[in-house]
Amino acid sequence: MTQQMKAAVINHYGQSIPKITSVPIPQVGAGDILVKIIAASVNPIDLKTQAGQLKMLLHYQMPLILGSDFAGIVVKVGKGVRHFQVGDQVYGRVPKDRIGTFAEYVAVDETAVAMKPANLTFAQAAAVPLVGLTSYQALVDIMRIRPGDKVLIQAGSGGIGTVAIQLAKLKGAFVTTTTSAKNSDWVRQLGADQIIDYHQENFAEVLRDYDAVFDTLGGQALADAFRIVKPGGQVVSLSGMPDERFARAYGLPRWKQWLFRLAARKFHRLENQTGARYHFLFMTPSGRELTELTSLIEQGKLHPVIDRQFSLTDIQAAFEYSRSHRAKGKIVIEVDTSKN
Ligand SMILES: NC(=O)c1ccc[n+]([C@@H]2O[C@H](COP(=O)([O-])OP(=O)(O)OC[C@H]3O[C@@H](n4cnc5c(N)ncnc54)[C@H](OP(=O)(O)O)[C@@H]3O)[C@@H](O)[C@H]2O)c1
Repeated sequence: MTQQMKAAVINHYGQSIPKITSVPIPQVGAGDILVKIIAASVNPIDLKTQAGQLKMLLHYQMPLILGSDFAGIVVKVGKGVRHFQVGDQVYGRVPKDRIGTFAEYVAVDETAVAMKPANLTFAQAAAVPLVGLTSYQALVDIMRIRPGDKVLIQAGSGGIGTVAIQLAKLKGAFVTTTTSAKNSDWVRQLGADQIIDYHQENFAEVLRDYDAVFDTLGGQALADAFRIVKPGGQVVSLSGMPDERFARAYGLPRWKQWLFRLAARKFHRLENQTGARYHFLFMTPSGRELTELTSLIEQGKLHPVIDRQFSLTDIQAAFEYSRSHRAKGKIVIEVDTSKN
């Protein structure tokens, strides 16, 4: 008989409450490792996936186990696995076509995995991969931030913002961020040089000549980013409209490339008017880049920020908190409470 595990499953898009169900432990394919998950963390993409909002980019078979981030212990390795062995303490963001970390086990391609930072608990480690990799890909791979660059990071108190501020400071940038007054003190301690209380001030009225904007908000905030960025500067958005360049690089069919060209034409107009460049970023899992983050964490240069922890059986409460958009850093799911 196949061995079973507990997992948070949806049976159709739009199912608001993932159900804790018994399902088979995943099979380990060539190049995969099987990880016993100790902790996972919630990201807004989990809620968007549940709601079916990403169907243009990602399509899943139902029933679907939700969850992208994990930290845990390797219990089995597949054929050809080269970098990990049973007993290793690891963490990662699973590839997008095979999600499912709100569960007791996950089978994951070894290329998406890194060794867990030795100085973090599993709960702390689970808070890092998705937001860490996304921030790294925006600030290092795309923006190539250099000392003295002026960068605006939107929503500095969120899962992304709390890591992005620290990374941008490590690269020597002058960092401005937006948040509410109640978060100002602790966000400043992460390294922000200037904080704008977005309830009181519109960043676009007070900032000028920025080298880069890291947009996590989309909508009007994204359009306004072009008002503060220099010619030759960059606007990297996580929440804006994917454009044709992204659609082509992501390998979408031509009709979707065409649709995204139409949908994002406003941003290409803004590019032409301002001389700034627009990038839609859809982060990519990477064990190699995560290893870079492990090193920064072990040197004490980068710290995860955790707001609340929930058990797997309380996943609904964790989702509701994430849906509030008020999280201060990350929301962690403890899957095996005996090891955290
Ligand atoms: N494309 C990708 O690959 C990718 C990757 C990661 C994330 N994302 C997206 O990026 C977005 C941010 O993710 P996250 O994990 O950082 O979200 P999050 O942790 O849920 O963000 C919550 C934080 O946002 C702040 N906030 C809300 N509205 C704000 C506003 N108008 N101005 C400034 N701060 C505001 C809140 O602070 P207050 O309480 O002060 O309002 C709160 O601390 C999500 O939409 C997510 O889906 C995309």
